[in-house]
Amino acid sequence: MTISRRTLLAAGLGAAIAGCTSSSEEAGPASSSSVGTSTTRSSVGTSTTSSGVAQSSTTTTIPRVEPVPSPTYSGDPPFALGVASGDPDTSSVVLWTRLRVDPLAPGPFAEADLQIAVDVARDAEFEDLVSSALHAAPSSFDHSVHVLADGLDPDGWYWYRFRLGDHTSPVGRTRTTPSDGTTPLRLGFSSCQNWESGSYAAHRHLAAADLDLFIWLGDYIYEYGPGNQGVVDSAGLRVHTTPEVTDLAGYRERYGLYKSDRSLQAHHAARPWIVTWDDHEIDNNHAGLNTEDGQDPAAFLERRRAAHLAWWENMPVRLDPPTGDRFEIHRTIRWGSLAHLHMLDGRQYRDAQPTDGDPVILPVVGDLGVRTLAETARDPNQSMLGTEQREWLENEVVSSDPTWNILGNQVYMHGLDAFPGAAPATNTDTWDGYHGERLELLTNLTSNSDNLVILSGDFHSSTAADVRADPFDLSGPIIATEFMAPAISSSFPELLRGLAPLVVGFNPQVRHFDPDNGFMTCEVTSTTWTTELHRLADVTAEDSDVAIAARFTVRAGSPGIATVEVSQ
Ligand SMILES: [Fe+2]
Repeated sequence: MTISRRTLLAAGLGAAIAGCTSSSEEAGPASSSSVGTSTTRSSVGTSTTSSGVAQSSTTTTIPRVEPVPSPTYSGDPPFALGVASGDPDTSSVVLWTRLRVDPLAPGPFAEADLQIAVDVARDAEFEDLVSSALHAAPSSFDHSVHVLADGLDPDGWYWYRFRLGDHTSPVGRTRTTPSDGTTPLRLGFSSCQNWESGSYAAHRHLAAADLDLFIWLGDYIYEYGPGNQGVVDSAGLRVHTTPEVTDLAGYRERYGLYKSDRSLQAHHAARPWIVTWDDHEIDNNHAGLNTEDGQDPAAFLERRRAAHLAWWENMPVRLDPPTGDRFEIHRTIRWGSLAHLHMLDGRQYRDAQPTDGDPVILPVVGDLGVRTLAETARDPNQSMLGTEQREWLENEVVSSDPTWNILGNQVYMHGLDAFPGAAPATNTDTWDGYHGERLELLTNLTSNSDNLVILSGDFHSSTAADVRADPFDLSGPIIATEFMAPAISSSFPELLRGLAPLVVGFNPQVRHFDPDNGFMTCEVTSTTWTTELHRLADVTAEDSDVAIAARFTVRAGSPGIATVEVSQ
């Protein structure tokens, strides 16, 4: 969403990213594999599925692979976008890179399909290799590489790297998930990294943090042209290099721009990420094929297909590439039986935002950009998730019994009444525009799960909140807990900072609010969930310090915020 005056109310991986090194010492039996999207197999048991997601298997003796001959490429190091991993399970994890010499320009590979070597080891020096194999880097996917490293042990840390010609990528560290129900989970999460609004100092601090997983809740890129349309308080540190992005070449370039940031690269290399999208990966505040500026749905569908493909090419996701008009990305990541993380797509299947509520316009302040809660929002058929995804989510929760169920969700569910009146004054881009569905969904989920924790982003500010099925009926029971993470860099308007405490004051479900940038980290055990809010001192400074601004706890079996500690 755009946060404007009309909204709210209204092991030291940093060093590993330092550059490419030669790996010409690698020698041994050569492996062969073809490239492209057809099935390929190498001598060390590597196959690439028809989807382009490659799979590796372990052998007792790991042969080393010759540096890949690359007659179609010689030149500068091709790892300008770094490396990443994601979507782990107990025995495997997805490894990712995308070959670029210049983050902003295609080539020099042109249309050539390439082969790339991928090494996985139990140590950062790659002396204890798990696998070493060739994989495809097809031109049709902009030389992105998605490798499923498998045959790994549960609850283990691993290191990986890619090799092309004489060049070796920065080293990434990743891990598998545990198979038990007692191993604590340490996770971080955040969203919203508008390039033009600030530095990625938060990622630099996250890269150094002691965490197992990182959850990204959307707005990895912003589609805007230079000047950040709609964002009133851009720090203007960095500027988008192209006009508003609407096609495949544009989205690919935009991911290249964002991924050129060394702090972001270091954070990707530090641990597996689990990602979903929000609106800006395609277009601000869209809902299904409905756009805020009324684009032709057929043209927007083409735009969305391009955005989906570019997103897949650039994210370390355990997903086949998109092939049609829809791209199903909702999925569950399991941390043993301690926590199941359900990653949601709150944009693709959405019904249009309701327009039947009355706009709230105040003297002096003006249009708050909110509407009174009305019939459409109260209709349970007014859906954010769509029928299929909602049934999938409810089945996931009903069919398993982890200690914690976690929703990886985009926009806040805890509700916010922006102005006291006869009906709640709500932001229709959030779950408040889908009030009826929220009421049914939360009731169903919490009748099958004692401990539901919702992680959200989008709002360029942070909250810790008690969640009721109807947020505006404070006589109802607290049935879940929500943490909304601050933005990595995107801004909360200065004009609204003064109003925010007033609004929070008449929304008692919001136990803490903070308008600053940063991230949240959580320590999850079988008895307690502890969340820490990390606040940047100055988002405009890459060398900004970060400090813990607040700490919250939730006790298993007792939904809602149990304790709030605010740093002085
Ligand atoms: Fe955002």
